[in-house]
Amino acid sequence: MLALDHISEGGFAEIEVVLDGDAESLILYREGGAVRAWLNICPHAGRRLDWAPGEFLRSKDGLLVCAAHGASFELGGGECVAGPCRGEALRAVPVVVRDGAVFLA
Ligand code: FES
Repeated sequence: MLALDHISEGGFAEIEVVLDGDAESLILYREGGAVRAWLNICPHAGRRLDWAPGEFLRSKDGLLVCAAHGASFELGGGECVAGPCRGEALRAVPVVVRDGAVFLA
């Protein structure tokens, strides 16, 4: 669905997919040859996290920051560690990397 090369090392990308019949935006995060994915829906007020499609904010501590009200998420499990939804988490979407591309698992 997306070539791994489209995501810089340690960077983010956004893609649109169909999940259970619904169009959804996903956040992809690359770490080496591995990619993690979450729904691009903030647990705080349900807004997208990117300020423009595919443009995500990052704190100097390396956290993913929601552009709406500043909730900060760690990139292991997508847990909100600071901000208005502290203790909640992004919804993970299983993906696999195969032949240099990222696919829904
Ligand atoms: S919607 Fe993300 S912090 Fe409010």
